[in-house]
Order: sequence, then C-alpha cells, then structure tokens
Amino acid sequence: MWTYDRKLQYPVKIKTPNHNLASIIISQLGGPDGELAASMRYLNQRYSMPYGEVTGILTDVGTEELAHLEMVGAILYQLTRDLSPDEIAGTPFATYFVDHTVGVYPVSASGQKARVTYDNIIRLCDDPDVLDPIRYLREREIVHYQRFGDALRIATDHMNEKNFYAINPSYDQ
Ligand SMILES: [Fe+2]
Repeated sequence: MWTYDRKLQYPVKIKTPNHNLASIIISQLGGPDGELAASMRYLNQRYSMPYGEVTGILTDVGTEELAHLEMVGAILYQLTRDLSPDEIAGTPFATYFVDHTVGVYPVSASGQKARVTYDNIIRLCDDPDVLDPIRYLREREIVHYQRFGDALRIATDHMNEKNFYAINPSYDQ
C-alpha cells in the first residue's frame, strides 16, 4: 500500500519548451532502461526475494522509481507544453512517440542502466532548467546502485551460509 504526496520528489521548473530534448528524455519514461521498467522490475522481484532486508530495499527503491517516473513525466510535459500537433509532426519526437521501442526484458537490476541513460541525456542537453532535475535523478540512481550492492552482499552471505553459492564454481571448469 502507498500514500501519495501531492508534490514531486524534486522540483521541475522548465521555462523553455524543447521537443528535441523531449524526444531524448522520453526513453527514461517508458524505454527499456527507464524509470517505469525499473520500478516494475524491483516491485515484482521482491515477492521471490527470500531475505527480508533485501525485500525492503527492493520495495524502497521500486517505490522511489515511481516518484522518478513522475518527475520525468513533468519534464516531458514542460518540454512539450504548448506545442501543436503540427509542430510535433516531422520532429524526432513524433516518430519516437508512435514507434516506441520494445526492449528485451532487462536481466540486471541496480539502476546502472538508468544512470547511463541520464549520462547520455546530460551530454545532449544544455538547458540548466532541465539539467538540474536530470542531475538529481542521476544522483539517486547512484544511491540505488549502492543499495543494490548491499542487497547483493546480503543475498550472497545468506546463500553461502547454506552452502548454496550465488556463483557455482563448477560451471567455470
Ligand atoms: Fe530512478
């Protein structure tokens, strides 16, 4: 169960619409390594996680990814605000909007894919109003990466305790 705060996790206040930038950032909404994919991945992985502490991390991080989804949605909305359908047609944003890529379901967790996607966005973006919340989201992915490092250690320790190894050395022989 969740309760909802009627505010963004970090403010988004973009003054200048920019559909080219929106066409780049939209991948972080519903793309294969975006916030939606991350939150659904973690919030579903927690059911089969046998270690309570790690289940807690997955729930925390999966929940925060939903807040990031909301921030990315606000960024996209503000970047495409007031654009007419005619202005959108013929831009890269139009193609991406209708022909959304279908990625292979990601196998690795950890927020690293999202972080790399933010790195790429930062390289292509020069609006400080957009860079500010994007940099915040990137920082949070680094925190998630550290928490998943803890989760991996906890899970590995538990598995080793039971003589049940996360990596089976006999596979490498
Ligand atoms: Fe995130």
